[in-house]
Amino acid sequence: MKPLKLTLAGAAALLTAGAAHAQELNLICSADVVICELLVEQFEAGHDIDVNMVRLSSGEAYAKIRAEGRNPQTDLWWGGTGDPHLQAASDGLTMEYQSPMLEELHEWATRQAELSGYRTVGVYSGALGWGYNTEIFESKGITPPTCWADLLDPSLAGEIQIADPNSSGTAYTTLATLVQLMGEDEAFAFLADMDANVSQYTKSGSAPVKAAARGETGLGIVFMHDAVAQAEEGFPVEVVAPCEGTGYEIGSMSLIEGAQNETEAKTFYDWVLGADVQSMMPEAGSFQIPSNASATPPEAAPNLDDIKLIDYDFAQYGDSERRAGLLARWDEEIGGK
Ligand code: G6P
Repeated sequence: MKPLKLTLAGAAALLTAGAAHAQELNLICSADVVICELLVEQFEAGHDIDVNMVRLSSGEAYAKIRAEGRNPQTDLWWGGTGDPHLQAASDGLTMEYQSPMLEELHEWATRQAELSGYRTVGVYSGALGWGYNTEIFESKGITPPTCWADLLDPSLAGEIQIADPNSSGTAYTTLATLVQLMGEDEAFAFLADMDANVSQYTKSGSAPVKAAARGETGLGIVFMHDAVAQAEEGFPVEVVAPCEGTGYEIGSMSLIEGAQNETEAKTFYDWVLGADVQSMMPEAGSFQIPSNASATPPEAAPNLDDIKLIDYDFAQYGDSERRAGLLARWDEEIGGK
């Protein structure tokens, strides 16, 4: 066998290749997996950085980052509802960073940054509601609900799915919205009544409307843009904004305190706030309102001006103790029964 001869040039090439592969980014993505994958693909195409991406629901992502604590394996957390990002900020788990891109963002996105001492920032927004399968409703002769109160109707027994607020930011936003609309005790009484109509508490926030689209359930309580995504795919899904008013999310992004790949994380952070990148989201079936004021909002996105939005108190419901307290009560009175 010929001895393997390594020339100087060959060794240099190997070293360069090694160096090129050394640039990495560990990303948690908490929005829909299709947009997560598109962002990674586009970012890798334009940068010499390999992205290791894991898709986790917002509450799961928060729990992972908290568990990693002082030895973070994650560098950056993109997407998912704002409340757990704010909670991570108040726990000191995320890093202060003022991106040069902040000046391009809508005021609601930078307000999230200010609120957290620049430990998080808004990347998109969307309002809460539900989607129902029109064919199932017609065939069963059920009147479609237009208000939160209608969700208690006995005709909906077994027809509703919603996620578990421990894992899902969507479901936590629902819980916090009901508390703000009704008062805490009334909201828990409402959820206990609605439980009679709920067939399943899913892990991920958008799963309920995907199940409704495929005829596995009648209705899913989700962000309206997730229901729109199913209708756009051609499923018989109608989207509803509840008549009493509804909450909304400021989907957020945070850099992890002590990130091992801080420079790479900042490169992604600045890139993903760009108008071109955010304008790409509908290609992946993501119909949120982008946070960059120059990005093109998706044509199919629900118009927030036409929806009765509550003045969602992000400071209170993103507070660590408040979120933990509401989740503990949900486990005791609703989920753990
Ligand atoms: C979907 C929505 C996002 C939202 C996310 C929260 O992906 O499109 O706008 O931020 O759900 O996910 P979760 O599983 O935490 O409810």
